[in-house]
Amino acid sequence: MSDWLTIKSDYDAMSEAAAKQVAILIRENNRKGKSTVLGLATGSTPTGLYKELVRLYEEEQLDFSNVITFNLDNYWPCDDAHEKSYVKEMNEKLFDHIIGGERGIKRENIHIPSGKVVEDAIEEHCIAYEEKMKQVGGIDLQIVGIGKNGHIGFNEPEHLADGTPWYKLRTRKVDLSPATIKANGLDGTGIKSAITMGIDTIMQAKSVLLLASGPDKAQIINETFGAEGLNLKSPAGILAGHEHCHLLIDEAAAAAIDKGEAAIKGKGVIARG
Ligand code: F6R
Repeated sequence: MSDWLTIKSDYDAMSEAAAKQVAILIRENNRKGKSTVLGLATGSTPTGLYKELVRLYEEEQLDFSNVITFNLDNYWPCDDAHEKSYVKEMNEKLFDHIIGGERGIKRENIHIPSGKVVEDAIEEHCIAYEEKMKQVGGIDLQIVGIGKNGHIGFNEPEHLADGTPWYKLRTRKVDLSPATIKANGLDGTGIKSAITMGIDTIMQAKSVLLLASGPDKAQIINETFGAEGLNLKSPAGILAGHEHCHLLIDEAAAAAIDKGEAAIKGKGVIARG
């Protein structure tokens, strides 16, 4: 098995291992008096990770007072109170449970692309989002899920299909692919766009942890990282070129890959043009 692939028995074991890694990083940085900059994802995959982080905050004194977060993406246009809003989702799953008090995260340290920014101000908003990341020294650990079509953040396969190189994709407004609109239950909501970190933004993180769970992800995990070699039609495949990317997936998501060969063939071959 490759050293950049860990397969856990099930969703809970994957979530616990992810939370452990996040907690070790936060504790290490807290000891050194340094802040920890986390990149966060939404969707069903990291729900267990957030639940475990809340437990570590409540029961094991994990201290978020020096943690700074940047979410990968948010739908646009989308009010914070909308049922699909990633601001709402993150508050409900994580932030509302770990805010306030001595060990709590500070509201001003939470960053999520705005679903409310007016169209003319989107570009400026995206530049400022990247600038803020830089100002705090960049993302230490980026959590990433994978779409059934291989997207990371909302960097869809279509965004690479026209020949745009991945290293030109920074935080920006994007059209969601029809597959994502369906998979994310957006039919009937009118939501067709999002603001997302780019692939290059994600690749700039000092380390990346890609999580995947369940049989629904088995095909794309195999197509992206399996023994056939790296598939660059799947945006997640670019991550194989990141020096500190780790895939942490469960047995069900790993069901289609040849574990002896998986996730190694493309390692190191993704270059900046
Ligand atoms: C969410 C995000 C998406 C999801 C992906 C998987 O912030 O950027 O790329 O990670 O769509 O979603 P789930 O986890 O719901 O299968």
